[in-house]
Amino acid sequence: MENQISITAIMTAYMRAFHAAHGKPTIFNDYKAYELIPEENRRLIEAGFSQALKFQMPSMEQISPEHLKTVDSMMQFMGAANVLCRSDFAESNLVAAINRGVKQYVILGAGLDTFVFRRPDLVDALQVFEVDHPLTQSFKRERIAGLGWKTPENLHMVPVDFTRDTLMASLRKASYRCDESSFFSWLGVTVYLPREKVDETLRSIARNAKSGSMIVFDYMDITAFNKDKAAASIQANMETVREVGEPMLTGFDPDTLGKELNDLGWVLQENLGPEDIEKRYFAGRSDDWHASNQSYLARASVR
Ligand SMILES: C[S@@+](CC[C@H](N)C(=O)[O-])C[C@H]1O[C@@H](n2cnc3c(N)ncnc32)[C@H](O)[C@@H]1O
Repeated sequence: MENQISITAIMTAYMRAFHAAHGKPTIFNDYKAYELIPEENRRLIEAGFSQALKFQMPSMEQISPEHLKTVDSMMQFMGAANVLCRSDFAESNLVAAINRGVKQYVILGAGLDTFVFRRPDLVDALQVFEVDHPLTQSFKRERIAGLGWKTPENLHMVPVDFTRDTLMASLRKASYRCDESSFFSWLGVTVYLPREKVDETLRSIARNAKSGSMIVFDYMDITAFNKDKAAASIQANMETVREVGEPMLTGFDPDTLGKELNDLGWVLQENLGPEDIEKRYFAGRSDDWHASNQSYLARASVR
């Protein structure tokens, strides 16, 4: 992503917002996301849905019951199931980490993540570091200021371009402590970075963070980059994000991820594929939501 505010960060926030308003039951209830998206961005997204689906969608809240199912299906096609599951996966694991005494939460590529406003019950026990591309981060800062939301004192906003800056040096300058166990989340980001930058970032965390620190991230199965093996939805989404200037670049082979992480200083602890995600998040749902194609959730700890 070159010199632009992340459109995909706005889209994923919209997906969480839509699901918080209409998902029954919710997989992840991001009830603060809608407000955080500037009105003009919401209007653009809603106009896009109206045009694509050929009915008027005045706003997320005003969608008619007959059209809800259609927008829901479109969201799914765009990968919303992965967006919701990865957020729940991250924050469920974060709660477990807090219970083990972790006091630093680093949200890498935070986008419009609302954790600090949504979970005051957890924030107090933590130092939270939101790391994002400088342009997207200043866009978020402006929006927060415009809304008059108060940011907690223990939130540190750290501008970092993963393709240019050294993450751990930037974190240390922002009072991150390498001698404290930490929990990192990296949601919806690895796919947009060149593979060597993903590896560099993981290696540098493993070298600097305290042993036992943890990361959760989602990733795209490498087969999604093979035209003959990619699901139709993935191919369509790859085209869309390329058009908005955020091309998908990197996937992993789920079978070799453990070894690759090991070489970078990590121990893979959980590696959930679509079937596992379906069982964990979608079994017994009466709507048509299912795990996203070729999308994985991983959890690893620093050796
Ligand atoms: C799809 S959004 C995901 C945002 C959020 N984590 C979520 O789950 O909604 C991708 C995020 O990665 C960030 N990103 C992409 N390339 C980056 C880079 N080179 N350096 C820093 N952040 C980057 C974008 O700014 C954006 O916030």
